[in-house]
Amino acid sequence: AKEAVRVLVTGAAGQIGYALVPMIARGVMLGPEQPVVLHMLDIPPAAEALNGVKMELVDAAFPLLRGILATIDVVEACTGVNIAVMVGGFPRKEGMERKDVMSKNVSIYKAQAAALEKHAAPNCKVLIVANPANTNALILKEFAPSIPTRNISCLTRLDHNRALGQIAERLNVHVSDVKNVIIWGNHSSTQYPDVNHASILTKDGEKPVRGLIADDKWLNSEFITTVQQRGAAIIKARKLSSALSAASAACDHIHDWVLGTRQGTWVSMGVYSDGSYGVPAGLIYSFPVTCEKGEWSIVQGLKIDEFSRTKLDATANELAEEKSLAYSCL
Ligand code: NAI
Repeated sequence: AKEAVRVLVTGAAGQIGYALVPMIARGVMLGPEQPVVLHMLDIPPAAEALNGVKMELVDAAFPLLRGILATIDVVEACTGVNIAVMVGGFPRKEGMERKDVMSKNVSIYKAQAAALEKHAAPNCKVLIVANPANTNALILKEFAPSIPTRNISCLTRLDHNRALGQIAERLNVHVSDVKNVIIWGNHSSTQYPDVNHASILTKDGEKPVRGLIADDKWLNSEFITTVQQRGAAIIKARKLSSALSAASAACDHIHDWVLGTRQGTWVSMGVYSDGSYGVPAGLIYSFPVTCEKGEWSIVQGLKIDEFSRTKLDATANELAEEKSLAYSCL
């Protein structure tokens, strides 16, 4: 029998946590053959709710779920974990300055970095979901120097999936027949959803999205802003932020990272920039990546036109600015 994989979910009593833990326990993240042990962390005010989630996981009788730890102790939560999905964070509240929110999250991610570095399993893979996701990931990287940089990532797969969804709706095709959109940059409204390399699988083979959607105006403006503003549109409609789609995207991210991307297909992940595509090294930036044997690599050699160049730079500038704000909070 396969050994269980230990998966940490922080902020597990929150909205995304509530959608995410049953997906992990059903094998959505690591496959239907892979037993899991869930480590769930939250903070004292949410301890009772977290225990309620644990009770429901017991009641769901998931065959793949081999153990459940629900705790408010960060060291206990991090001990021996193979995968860490960091959903816990401090949300922006009305009247709060950006710097105050940043400062709270910097101190959370600094502390959790130290706990992961000391207590996680070797080669633990880390995904940061909590906002500001890219910058939280950067702080975690800085304060967990012994965790390989290639093991630290942030979630832009939700934006990637939103882009696939918009194209599928527009062309009235199956979303699974759309591939190779790209989310560049920050998980924020400056992100650049790029369809220049995307294609659709048709009965006559693969066709570029640019060829099938003749309306450049839609592709160059409405499509981009719809994806950028989708999070806000969900909040407006639900009075709560995206949770099921965020949880599903977190599963897709880890699934593809661990088990590999399909031949000829890439996905978007926020990873540490090595300077590819002229993105300054030292930022956590979303790139197109392929994954094989548990390692991601940035897709190289894509043509970047002038329109795209401006957008790649704008979101890089925002990340550089967030980085200095974060450092000023240390
Ligand atoms: P939520 O407020 O429902 O849940 C957050 C949970 O984190 C709460 O239970 C809270 O008690 C807990 N928490 C706070 N500080 C913690 C700490 N130091 N350690 C452990 N747990 C802690 O929020 P929701 O809707 O689940 O969203 C979580 C985060 O994910 C937010 O930062 C949100 O902005 C972000 N997000 C990111 C997305 C992405 O695509 N990257 C998409 C959607 C949300």
